[in-house]
Amino acid sequence: MTPQINPNTMTDEAKTAEESQRVGPPYQTAKGVHDILPDDHEFFTYIKKVVRHRARQHGFRRITTPTFEFTDVFNRSIGDTTDIVSKEMYTFQDRKGRSLTLKPEGTAGVVRSYLQHNMQTLPQPVELYYIEPHFRYDRPQKGRYRQFWQFGLEVIGESDSAIDAQLIHLFYTVLQDLGVADQFKLQINSIGCSAKNCRPKFVVDLQNFYMGKERNLCEECSYRLPKNPLRLLDCKKEDCTILAKLAPQMRNYLCPECKEFHGELLLLLKGLGIDYVENDKLVRGLDYYTKTVFEFWDKSQGAQNAIGGGGRYDGLIEIMGGLPTPAVGFAAGIERIIENMKACGVKVPTKDDIHVFVAQLGFNAKQKALLLMRELREVGLKTVGALGKGAIKNQLRVADRFKVPYCVIMGITEVRDGTAIIRDMKRGSQKIVKYETVVEEVMKLIGAENLDTYTPGEVLY
Ligand code: HAM
Repeated sequence: MTPQINPNTMTDEAKTAEESQRVGPPYQTAKGVHDILPDDHEFFTYIKKVVRHRARQHGFRRITTPTFEFTDVFNRSIGDTTDIVSKEMYTFQDRKGRSLTLKPEGTAGVVRSYLQHNMQTLPQPVELYYIEPHFRYDRPQKGRYRQFWQFGLEVIGESDSAIDAQLIHLFYTVLQDLGVADQFKLQINSIGCSAKNCRPKFVVDLQNFYMGKERNLCEECSYRLPKNPLRLLDCKKEDCTILAKLAPQMRNYLCPECKEFHGELLLLLKGLGIDYVENDKLVRGLDYYTKTVFEFWDKSQGAQNAIGGGGRYDGLIEIMGGLPTPAVGFAAGIERIIENMKACGVKVPTKDDIHVFVAQLGFNAKQKALLLMRELREVGLKTVGALGKGAIKNQLRVADRFKVPYCVIMGITEVRDGTAIIRDMKRGSQKIVKYETVVEEVMKLIGAENLDTYTPGEVLY
C-alpha cells in the first residue's frame, strides 16, 4: 500500500485547518524524518569511521546502491506478506508508469547488484558493506523513523558457520568500539532451511497447531497464519505469546545439516567470547532468511529497540534469478546507536574545532587578512575570520563563540609596521610578531600533531 497525501488535492478548508494548527516556523520536516544537525554529525562521522575501519580490516569493500529500485526487487526478496512490503514501502510511479520504491533495507539492492554486475565471477565470497539512508512508512516513535540510516555488511558466495561467527563478532567489535556493547545481548536462533523435512515440515505443523485457535489470535496473526505462520511466534500480544509458548519448536525440526551448522556456530561464538541467548521465537521480519538469524537486543528494553540484526539468506540469490549461492549479513540502525552512545555518555572526538580567528580593521588590514587566512589554512590550521566591518571588540566576541584558542589581530598600526598581534584567548595575554612569522608562530602554538592537513590523492572518505 502506498502512503499518498497530496496537498494539491486537499480542500481549502482542510488546508486552512491544517495551517491554523501549525505553530512555529512555516515549514517543518515531514513526520518521522529529521535533520542531522552538526552535533549529531559528529556521532555519524565517528560511527562511519569505526565501521569503515573494521570493515576494511576484514576485507570488505564499500558499495552504494541507488536510493530507489524497481518495486519488484523488494517484493520478491523481502516477501509480499511482510510488514515492510505490505505496509511500509514508499512506492511511486515514474513518468512512464513504472513502479519504483525507496529502499526500505539494503540486502535486496546488494543482491540485485551482485547479479547485475556478475560478481559471482569474482573470487568468493564477495564481502560488501554500506552506510545508507533507508525509508519505511513506520509509526514514528523513539528509535523508529521513516528515514533512518543503517550500516550493513553482506558476505555472498560461501557457506560456513565460521563466516556467521566472524560476522557476528565483527558487529560486536563495532559496538565495543562505539562504547555501547555492554548495553546489548545477542539473541540467536536457527530457522532451518528449505529441505522438505526441515522448515517446510515445521511450517505445516505450526499451521496445524494454530488451526481451531484462530479466535485467540490477534487480527494481524490471523491474517498471517496462512502465508507467514513463523511470524506468529514473535507477536508481542498477550494471547498470541501464550499460544506461541505451546507451539511446536523449530529446534525439534532442524535437519541434520542445519543442526550441525547451528551447533558449530554456537561453539564458535563461545570461543570468541560472545555471550548469547538462544531464542527460538526469533524469526525476523523479512522472508529471505535460512538457518542463522540473530539480533542484538537492548538488555533493558528487549526486542522493542533491536540495535541491529541479520542472518543467513542462502536462498535469496536464486530467488532473485541467480544460481544457488549462500550468503549472510546484518544491518544496524545508526540513529539507535547514537541514542545509546548519548545515554552511555560516550564522547566523540570532534574535528570541527577552529584553531585560529583572524580579526582586522580597515581595508588594507582586510586585504592582508585574506592572504594570511589562506596561508594559515594551507598549512592545516582551521581558520575563520571576521570579514565584515565590525569593531575589533565585536569581532573578538565572535571569536569567543567559536571557542578559538588564538586570535590574530591586524589594525591600521600593525599594517603600517608590518606586524600582527597574536592573542591567547584563554590567558588574555598577547604578543606582537612580524607579519611574515605569524603562520610559523601559530603552528608552534597549535602543535604539528593537531594540524588538519590533506595531501591531494589521499583517501579521506
Ligand atoms: P532490519 O532488522 O529490518 O534488518 O533492520 C536492521 C536495523 O535497522 C534494526 O535493528 C534497527 O536498528 C534499524 N531500523 C529498522 N527500521 C528502523 C526504523 N524505522 N527507524 C530506525 N531504525 C530502524 C534489515 O534491514 C536487513 N536488511 C538486515 C540484513 C542484512 N540481513 C541480512 N543482511
